[in-house]
Amino acid sequence: MATSTTPNRGKWNSKLGFILAAAGSAVGLGNIWRFPTVMAENGGAAFLFIYALLVFIIGYPVMVAELSMGRRAEKNPVGTFKSLSSNKIFTLAGFWCVICGIAILSFYIIVAGWTISYFFEQIFHYLGFEGAAAFVADTDNGWLNAIVAVIFMAATISINIAGISQGIERAVRLLMPMLVVIILILIVYVMFQPGAGEGLREYLVPDFSAINTDLILAAMGQAFFSLSLGMGALITYGSYLSKRENIPEAAAYVTVFDVGIAFLAGMLVMPTIYMAQAQGLVVFDEDGSLLAGAALIFQVLPELFHEMGGLVGLIFGATFFFLLSIAALTSSISLLEVPTSYVIDEHKVSRKKAAIVVGSVVTFISLFIAFDTSLIGPIDQIFSDIGLPLGGFLVCIFLAYFWKTQNAKLEVRQGFENIDDHWFWPVWVVFIKYICPILIALILGSTIYGIFR
Ligand code: PHE
Repeated sequence: MATSTTPNRGKWNSKLGFILAAAGSAVGLGNIWRFPTVMAENGGAAFLFIYALLVFIIGYPVMVAELSMGRRAEKNPVGTFKSLSSNKIFTLAGFWCVICGIAILSFYIIVAGWTISYFFEQIFHYLGFEGAAAFVADTDNGWLNAIVAVIFMAATISINIAGISQGIERAVRLLMPMLVVIILILIVYVMFQPGAGEGLREYLVPDFSAINTDLILAAMGQAFFSLSLGMGALITYGSYLSKRENIPEAAAYVTVFDVGIAFLAGMLVMPTIYMAQAQGLVVFDEDGSLLAGAALIFQVLPELFHEMGGLVGLIFGATFFFLLSIAALTSSISLLEVPTSYVIDEHKVSRKKAAIVVGSVVTFISLFIAFDTSLIGPIDQIFSDIGLPLGGFLVCIFLAYFWKTQNAKLEVRQGFENIDDHWFWPVWVVFIKYICPILIALILGSTIYGIFR
């Protein structure tokens, strides 16, 4: 690990290492499980359109904000909010980040556990062990959910203990590109299946009349969730970032990569939903709403692999679920890193002890979800659709009016020397001071108004 100004804190080994780690945090179940599911529930292409818009007008500016705050403070979110301004009330925003991290991780490991179960489902199905295949495919089995979630959490904790560059950078280097390749091949295969065309149309031809406040809120939540924003994951990752790196550029890579993968995942999953329907699997209710909810992709994707059949189906199916679990792992690492780094920095506990204690607390909470997976929907909605944008709003207000954009500029200038002549800076300042906080407040405000009306 390279030296750093604050002792005992890791650093990313290289620029690529950082981008891969941040992209690893961003790309996960959010892209392949959450995005297609939320989109299918919210009018397909119209959702995609609003989502893409919000990623660039809110997500990207907030990402630059989080990374620069974290790199400046070299601390966890609580310490960052505490140290960058004399106004201590924003320390609460740091705690909000920690709470959102814990809540999201508690259902994230359940869904991630399903990726492990379905890896085995593919193998058992190939071997003809239909009983075993059906057993591991049962997402309502509380004990099974609990066991795979514990396994997944153990993997997450052990990588967090291994430390920043050793654990995280290494895990993403090879496996992320593999995931992209396999998705591309699957898309080509799916396009030739009956029903796929209808799914593709649903995905790409927007029906703008479907846009309403629910859709916009869901799209904003998805943008924050998928880019790992609003809960300090990128404040924390920014705290390990070298002063030589160009933050706006690194953030641009991460954003484009993340949206690219989500887009590809949609190209795969939407047509597969319709293909599965053409095959007789019931995925839609009579009123056209999706039946399967949280477990949707775990019902339709295995169908796709079974359809491919034989050894080919096994290879694609098992590899896909394996890579998906790795993608989930590189995200859960960053979710766990937020509360863990808080405990390490603020309570002077060793990394090992901190990761184990925090991980155990989260696992305990997740056991309730394991036995009642219908909790995933509401917890996800409260913390991802409302909690994360609220965190992003606080980041904007804090940076713009407490830490101040002049100070942010001093930080971002490191690694971006021609910042004074570049159009980026004045534009970004307008977004962080006005456009992002106002838009987030409007969207959250109209939702809360809708609830209490
Ligand atoms: N972005 C991750 C995903 O898409 C989830 C995540 C959310 C990670 C928030 C960190 C912080 O799966």
